Amino acid sequence: MDGQKPSSISSRRFAPPATVAVQPFLLKPQHMNGLSERLLVSHYENNYGGALRRLNAIRARLAALDWARTPVFDINGLKREELIAAGSVILHEIYFDSLGGDGDNPPTGLAQPPAGLAQALDRDFGSVMAWRAEFTAMAKALAGGSGWAILAWSERLGRLVNQWAADHAHFLPGAAPILALDMYEHAYHLDFGARAAAYVDQVMANLNWERIGARYRLAIGEGAGEDDLFLPFGAPAQEEARISAEELKAALEGGEDRRPLLLDLCLPRDLPRRTDMLAGASMHAPAALPRWVEELPRGRPIAVYCICGFQVSGRTVMELRQRGYDARALVGGITAWHAIGGATVPLDTSTYEEAP
Ligand SMILES: [Fe+2]
Repeated sequence: MDGQKPSSISSRRFAPPATVAVQPFLLKPQHMNGLSERLLVSHYENNYGGALRRLNAIRARLAALDWARTPVFDINGLKREELIAAGSVILHEIYFDSLGGDGDNPPTGLAQPPAGLAQALDRDFGSVMAWRAEFTAMAKALAGGSGWAILAWSERLGRLVNQWAADHAHFLPGAAPILALDMYEHAYHLDFGARAAAYVDQVMANLNWERIGARYRLAIGEGAGEDDLFLPFGAPAQEEARISAEELKAALEGGEDRRPLLLDLCLPRDLPRRTDMLAGASMHAPAALPRWVEELPRGRPIAVYCICGFQVSGRTVMELRQRGYDARALVGGITAWHAIGGATVPLDTSTYEEAP
Protein backbone atom coordinates (compact mmCIF):
# COMPACT_ATOMS: atom_id res chain seq x y z
CA MET A 1 0.00 0.00 0.00
CA ASP A 2 2.56 2.53 -1.01
CA GLY A 3 0.60 4.97 -3.12
CA GLN A 4 3.36 4.81 -5.69
CA LYS A 5 3.14 6.24 -9.17
CA PRO A 6 4.27 4.19 -12.13
CA SER A 7 8.04 3.91 -11.96
CA SER A 8 8.90 6.56 -14.51
CA ILE A 9 6.99 9.22 -12.63
CA SER A 10 8.17 8.01 -9.25
CA SER A 11 10.08 11.28 -8.88
CA ARG A 12 6.73 12.83 -8.01
CA ARG A 13 7.05 11.18 -4.61
CA PHE A 14 8.69 14.00 -2.72
CA ALA A 15 8.96 12.52 0.79
CA PRO A 16 10.69 9.56 2.43
CA PRO A 17 9.02 6.20 1.67
CA ALA A 18 7.70 5.96 5.24
CA THR A 19 5.23 8.70 4.39
CA VAL A 20 2.90 8.67 1.41
CA ALA A 21 3.53 12.15 0.03
CA VAL A 22 0.87 14.57 -1.12
CA GLN A 23 0.74 15.08 -4.88
CA PRO A 24 0.27 18.65 -6.12
CA PHE A 25 -2.55 19.93 -8.27
CA LEU A 26 -1.60 19.83 -11.95
CA LEU A 27 -4.88 21.50 -12.95
CA LYS A 28 -5.38 25.21 -12.36
CA PRO A 29 -8.50 25.29 -10.20
CA GLN A 30 -9.37 28.89 -11.11
CA HIS A 31 -9.25 28.14 -14.87
CA MET A 32 -11.61 25.22 -15.38
CA ASN A 33 -14.73 24.87 -17.50
CA GLY A 34 -17.74 24.87 -15.21
CA LEU A 35 -16.02 23.26 -12.22
CA SER A 36 -15.50 25.91 -9.56
CA GLU A 37 -12.27 26.57 -7.69
CA ARG A 38 -14.23 26.25 -4.44
CA LEU A 39 -15.38 22.75 -5.37
CA LEU A 40 -12.01 21.52 -6.64
CA VAL A 41 -9.96 22.93 -3.77
CA SER A 42 -12.39 21.65 -1.15
CA HIS A 43 -12.34 18.22 -2.78
CA TYR A 44 -8.54 18.19 -2.94
CA GLU A 45 -7.85 19.53 0.54
CA ASN A 46 -10.60 17.81 2.47
CA ASN A 47 -11.39 14.54 0.70
CA TYR A 48 -8.09 13.70 -0.99
CA GLY A 49 -6.09 15.28 1.83
CA GLY A 50 -8.28 13.55 4.40
CA ALA A 51 -7.65 10.14 2.83
CA LEU A 52 -3.91 10.86 2.68
CA ARG A 53 -3.76 11.91 6.33
CA ARG A 54 -5.80 8.84 7.32
CA LEU A 55 -3.56 6.53 5.29
CA ASN A 56 -0.40 7.87 6.90
CA ALA A 57 -1.91 7.64 10.38
CA ILE A 58 -2.97 4.02 9.74
CA ARG A 59 0.48 3.16 8.39
CA ALA A 60 2.08 4.61 11.52
CA ARG A 61 -0.28 2.56 13.68
CA LEU A 62 0.47 -0.60 11.68
CA ALA A 63 4.22 -0.02 11.92
CA ALA A 64 3.99 -0.03 15.72
CA LEU A 65 1.75 -3.09 15.95
CA ASP A 66 2.72 -6.25 17.82
CA TRP A 67 1.25 -8.66 15.27
CA ALA A 68 1.36 -11.68 17.58
CA ARG A 69 -0.62 -10.00 20.34
CA THR A 70 -3.02 -7.76 18.43
CA PRO A 71 -6.62 -9.03 18.37
CA VAL A 72 -7.74 -10.13 14.92
CA PHE A 73 -10.58 -7.60 14.87
CA ASP A 74 -8.03 -4.81 15.27
CA ILE A 75 -5.90 -6.23 12.47
CA ASN A 76 -8.95 -6.63 10.23
CA GLY A 77 -10.12 -3.11 10.96
CA LEU A 78 -6.76 -1.45 10.34
CA LYS A 79 -5.97 -3.42 7.18
CA ARG A 80 -9.45 -2.74 5.78
CA GLU A 81 -9.14 0.98 6.49
CA GLU A 82 -5.61 1.01 5.02
CA LEU A 83 -6.91 -0.48 1.76
CA ILE A 84 -9.81 1.98 1.57
CA ALA A 85 -7.61 5.00 2.31
CA ALA A 86 -4.91 3.92 -0.15
CA GLY A 87 -7.49 3.31 -2.87
CA SER A 88 -8.99 6.73 -2.23
CA VAL A 89 -5.60 8.45 -2.38
CA ILE A 90 -4.54 6.79 -5.63
CA LEU A 91 -7.88 7.20 -7.41
CA HIS A 92 -8.13 10.87 -6.38
CA GLU A 93 -4.64 11.52 -7.75
CA ILE A 94 -5.59 9.92 -11.08
CA TYR A 95 -8.83 11.93 -11.11
CA PHE A 96 -7.18 15.31 -10.50
CA ASP A 97 -4.25 14.53 -12.83
CA SER A 98 -6.76 13.75 -15.59
CA LEU A 99 -8.21 17.26 -15.47
CA GLY A 100 -6.87 20.63 -16.54
CA GLY A 101 -5.74 22.75 -19.42
CA ASP A 102 -2.41 23.49 -21.00
CA GLY A 103 -0.35 25.70 -18.70
CA ASP A 104 -2.35 28.86 -18.06
CA ASN A 105 -4.99 27.96 -20.63
CA PRO A 106 -8.31 26.51 -19.55
CA PRO A 107 -9.24 23.08 -20.88
CA THR A 108 -10.74 23.39 -24.33
CA GLY A 109 -13.30 20.68 -23.80
CA LEU A 110 -12.68 19.71 -27.40
CA ALA A 111 -9.38 17.84 -27.29
CA GLN A 112 -9.39 14.22 -28.36
CA PRO A 113 -7.20 11.41 -27.03
CA PRO A 114 -3.69 11.26 -28.46
CA ALA A 115 -3.22 8.87 -31.37
CA GLY A 116 -2.04 5.80 -29.43
CA LEU A 117 -4.86 5.92 -26.92
CA ALA A 118 -7.45 6.81 -29.58
CA GLN A 119 -6.43 3.73 -31.57
CA ALA A 120 -6.69 1.56 -28.46
CA LEU A 121 -10.18 2.94 -27.71
CA ASP A 122 -11.16 2.27 -31.34
CA ARG A 123 -9.84 -1.27 -31.06
CA ASP A 124 -11.50 -2.08 -27.73
CA PHE A 125 -14.79 -0.15 -27.94
CA GLY A 126 -15.35 0.35 -31.66
CA SER A 127 -14.67 4.08 -31.55
CA VAL A 128 -13.77 6.87 -29.16
CA MET A 129 -17.41 7.97 -29.26
CA ALA A 130 -18.59 4.47 -28.33
CA TRP A 131 -16.12 4.37 -25.45
CA ARG A 132 -17.29 7.78 -24.27
CA ALA A 133 -20.97 6.73 -24.43
CA GLU A 134 -20.30 3.67 -22.27
CA PHE A 135 -18.00 5.47 -19.82
CA THR A 136 -20.33 8.41 -19.21
CA ALA A 137 -23.42 6.16 -18.95
CA MET A 138 -21.58 4.02 -16.38
CA ALA A 139 -20.64 7.14 -14.39
CA LYS A 140 -24.14 8.59 -14.57
CA ALA A 141 -25.59 5.27 -13.41
CA LEU A 142 -23.74 5.79 -10.12
CA ALA A 143 -25.69 9.01 -9.48
CA GLY A 144 -27.39 9.07 -6.14
CA GLY A 145 -24.94 6.56 -4.74
CA SER A 146 -21.16 6.69 -4.75
CA GLY A 147 -18.22 5.09 -6.44
CA TRP A 148 -15.87 5.54 -9.36
CA ALA A 149 -16.02 5.17 -13.11
CA ILE A 150 -12.60 3.93 -14.18
CA LEU A 151 -10.94 3.40 -17.54
CA ALA A 152 -8.26 0.78 -16.94
CA TRP A 153 -5.76 -1.27 -18.90
CA SER A 154 -6.02 -4.99 -18.15
CA GLU A 155 -2.98 -6.99 -19.16
CA ARG A 156 -4.86 -10.26 -18.56
CA LEU A 157 -7.83 -9.27 -20.70
CA GLY A 158 -5.53 -7.62 -23.22
CA ARG A 159 -7.66 -4.53 -23.54
CA LEU A 160 -8.89 -1.30 -22.04
CA VAL A 161 -11.96 -1.76 -19.86
CA ASN A 162 -14.54 0.58 -18.39
CA GLN A 163 -14.58 -0.58 -14.81
CA TRP A 164 -17.43 0.08 -12.39
CA ALA A 165 -16.32 0.59 -8.79
CA ALA A 166 -18.68 0.76 -5.82
CA ASP A 167 -16.05 2.29 -3.55
CA HIS A 168 -12.37 3.18 -3.13
CA ALA A 169 -11.38 -0.47 -2.67
CA HIS A 170 -13.10 -1.97 -5.69
CA PHE A 171 -10.56 -2.92 -8.35
CA LEU A 172 -10.21 -5.25 -11.29
CA PRO A 173 -7.20 -7.34 -10.17
CA GLY A 174 -4.04 -6.43 -12.01
CA ALA A 175 -5.63 -3.64 -14.04
CA ALA A 176 -3.95 -0.21 -14.19
CA PRO A 177 -6.32 2.79 -13.97
CA ILE A 178 -5.82 5.30 -16.79
CA LEU A 179 -8.69 7.66 -15.96
CA ALA A 180 -10.88 7.80 -12.85
CA LEU A 181 -14.07 9.79 -12.47
CA ASP A 182 -15.14 10.45 -8.88
CA MET A 183 -18.86 9.81 -8.38
CA TYR A 184 -18.98 10.47 -4.65
CA GLU A 185 -21.38 13.29 -3.88
CA HIS A 186 -18.56 15.42 -2.44
CA ALA A 187 -17.11 15.60 -5.95
CA TYR A 188 -20.00 17.66 -7.32
CA HIS A 189 -22.57 18.69 -4.73
CA LEU A 190 -21.18 22.21 -4.16
CA ASP A 191 -21.57 23.11 -7.85
CA PHE A 192 -24.27 20.80 -9.13
CA GLY A 193 -26.45 19.83 -6.19
CA ALA A 194 -27.93 16.46 -7.07
CA ARG A 195 -27.39 16.94 -10.84
CA ALA A 196 -24.77 14.22 -11.13
CA ALA A 197 -25.25 13.77 -14.89
CA ALA A 198 -24.43 17.44 -15.53
CA TYR A 199 -21.28 17.01 -13.45
CA VAL A 200 -20.18 14.00 -15.52
CA ASP A 201 -20.59 15.99 -18.75
CA GLN A 202 -18.58 18.86 -17.26
CA VAL A 203 -15.74 16.58 -16.19
CA MET A 204 -15.55 15.25 -19.75
CA ALA A 205 -15.14 18.86 -20.95
CA ASN A 206 -12.13 19.30 -18.66
CA LEU A 207 -10.09 16.21 -19.47
CA ASN A 208 -6.37 16.55 -20.03
CA TRP A 209 -5.91 13.91 -22.70
CA GLU A 210 -2.17 14.41 -22.84
CA ARG A 211 -1.72 13.16 -19.29
CA ILE A 212 -4.31 10.40 -19.70
CA GLY A 213 -2.45 9.25 -22.83
CA ALA A 214 0.84 9.32 -20.90
CA ARG A 215 -0.68 7.17 -18.18
CA TYR A 216 -1.81 4.69 -20.85
CA ARG A 217 1.69 4.53 -22.34
CA LEU A 218 3.13 3.87 -18.88
CA ALA A 219 0.53 1.14 -18.25
CA ILE A 220 1.43 -0.74 -21.43
CA GLY A 221 5.17 -0.32 -20.83
CA GLU A 222 5.79 2.22 -23.58
CA GLY A 223 6.29 5.26 -21.38
CA ALA A 224 9.29 7.51 -21.92
CA GLY A 225 9.88 11.12 -20.99
CA GLU A 226 6.50 11.61 -19.28
CA ASP A 227 7.90 13.17 -16.09
CA ASP A 228 7.47 16.77 -17.26
CA LEU A 229 3.75 16.20 -17.86
CA PHE A 230 3.34 15.44 -14.16
CA LEU A 231 5.19 18.52 -12.87
CA PRO A 232 3.06 21.56 -11.98
CA PHE A 233 3.18 24.24 -14.70
CA GLY A 234 5.91 26.75 -13.90
CA ALA A 235 7.40 24.82 -10.96
CA PRO A 236 11.22 24.67 -10.98
CA ALA A 237 12.46 21.75 -13.05
CA GLN A 238 15.42 21.10 -10.75
CA GLU A 239 14.59 18.92 -7.78
CA GLU A 240 16.93 20.90 -5.51
CA ALA A 241 14.84 24.02 -6.18
CA ARG A 242 11.71 22.39 -4.76
CA ILE A 243 10.64 21.43 -1.25
CA SER A 244 7.74 19.09 -0.49
CA ALA A 245 5.06 19.94 2.04
CA GLU A 246 6.29 17.05 4.20
CA GLU A 247 9.91 18.26 4.04
CA LEU A 248 8.86 21.80 4.92
CA LYS A 249 6.79 20.59 7.86
CA ALA A 250 9.75 18.58 9.19
CA ALA A 251 12.09 21.55 8.71
CA LEU A 252 9.74 23.93 10.54
CA GLU A 253 9.42 21.46 13.41
CA GLY A 254 13.20 21.09 13.63
CA GLY A 255 15.76 23.24 15.40
CA GLU A 256 16.13 26.96 14.77
CA ASP A 257 19.13 26.33 12.49
CA ARG A 258 17.00 24.20 10.13
CA ARG A 259 14.00 26.50 9.98
CA PRO A 260 13.67 28.13 6.55
CA LEU A 261 12.58 31.71 6.13
CA LEU A 262 9.03 31.66 4.72
CA LEU A 263 7.99 33.89 1.82
CA ASP A 264 4.35 34.03 0.73
CA LEU A 265 4.12 35.23 -2.88
CA CYS A 266 0.81 36.37 -4.32
CA LEU A 267 -0.24 38.26 -7.44
CA PRO A 268 -2.41 41.32 -6.65
CA ARG A 269 -5.33 39.82 -8.57
CA ASP A 270 -5.14 36.65 -6.46
CA LEU A 271 -5.35 38.39 -3.07
CA PRO A 272 -9.14 37.85 -2.87
CA ARG A 273 -8.51 34.09 -3.16
CA ARG A 274 -6.47 34.09 0.06
CA THR A 275 -7.58 33.77 3.66
CA ASP A 276 -4.62 32.31 5.53
CA MET A 277 -0.88 31.83 5.50
CA LEU A 278 1.90 29.86 7.17
CA ALA A 279 2.84 31.18 10.61
CA GLY A 280 5.89 33.43 10.43
CA ALA A 281 5.69 33.99 6.66
CA SER A 282 5.96 37.44 5.15
CA MET A 283 3.81 38.24 2.17
CA HIS A 284 5.14 39.95 -0.94
CA ALA A 285 4.17 40.90 -4.48
CA PRO A 286 6.31 39.02 -7.01
CA ALA A 287 6.69 42.12 -9.19
CA ALA A 288 8.14 44.07 -6.25
CA LEU A 289 11.02 41.61 -5.80
CA PRO A 290 13.72 44.31 -6.29
CA ARG A 291 12.19 46.18 -3.34
CA TRP A 292 12.16 43.29 -0.87
CA VAL A 293 14.99 41.03 -1.98
CA GLU A 294 17.77 43.01 -0.28
CA GLU A 295 16.17 42.43 3.13
CA LEU A 296 16.55 38.66 2.81
CA PRO A 297 19.30 37.09 4.92
CA ARG A 298 21.97 35.21 3.01
CA GLY A 299 23.09 31.79 4.22
CA ARG A 300 19.65 30.80 5.47
CA PRO A 301 17.32 28.47 3.56
CA ILE A 302 14.26 30.17 2.10
CA ALA A 303 10.97 28.43 1.33
CA VAL A 304 8.74 30.25 -1.13
CA TYR A 305 5.12 29.36 -1.61
CA CYS A 306 2.10 30.58 -3.55
CA ILE A 307 -1.43 29.23 -3.87
CA CYS A 308 -0.79 26.03 -5.82
CA GLY A 309 2.95 26.05 -6.55
CA PHE A 310 2.79 27.07 -10.20
CA GLN A 311 4.81 29.85 -11.83
CA VAL A 312 4.32 32.51 -9.13
CA SER A 313 6.58 30.72 -6.66
CA GLY A 314 8.49 28.93 -9.45
CA ARG A 315 9.71 32.09 -11.17
CA THR A 316 10.51 33.82 -7.88
CA VAL A 317 12.60 30.88 -6.71
CA MET A 318 14.58 30.81 -9.94
CA GLU A 319 15.19 34.55 -9.65
CA LEU A 320 16.33 34.18 -6.02
CA ARG A 321 18.62 31.27 -6.87
CA GLN A 322 20.21 33.29 -9.67
CA ARG A 323 20.94 35.95 -7.07
CA GLY A 324 22.64 33.35 -4.87
CA TYR A 325 19.90 32.65 -2.35
CA ASP A 326 19.18 29.10 -1.12
CA ALA A 327 15.53 29.27 -2.14
CA ARG A 328 13.12 26.43 -2.79
CA ALA A 329 9.51 26.42 -3.98
CA LEU A 330 6.85 24.59 -1.99
CA VAL A 331 5.48 21.86 -4.25
CA GLY A 332 1.72 22.27 -4.50
CA GLY A 333 1.77 25.57 -2.59
CA ILE A 334 -0.39 26.33 0.41
CA THR A 335 -3.09 24.10 -1.12
CA ALA A 336 -0.88 21.01 -0.67
CA TRP A 337 0.07 22.33 2.78
CA HIS A 338 -3.61 22.36 3.71
CA ALA A 339 -4.02 18.84 2.33
CA ILE A 340 -1.39 17.40 4.69
CA GLY A 341 -3.05 19.19 7.61
CA GLY A 342 -0.37 21.86 7.97
CA ALA A 343 -1.22 24.64 10.42
CA THR A 344 -1.93 28.17 9.21
CA VAL A 345 -2.76 31.57 10.68
CA PRO A 346 -5.09 34.30 9.36
CA LEU A 347 -3.71 36.21 6.37
CA ASP A 348 -1.51 39.21 7.24
CA THR A 349 -0.96 41.54 4.29
CA SER A 350 0.95 44.21 6.25
CA THR A 351 4.20 43.43 4.41
CA TYR A 352 2.57 43.28 0.96
CA GLU A 353 3.76 45.92 -1.47
CA GLU A 354 1.25 48.29 -3.00
CA ALA A 355 1.50 48.69 -6.76
CA PRO A 356 4.51 50.86 -7.69
FE1 LIG B 1 -13.55 12.40 -4.04
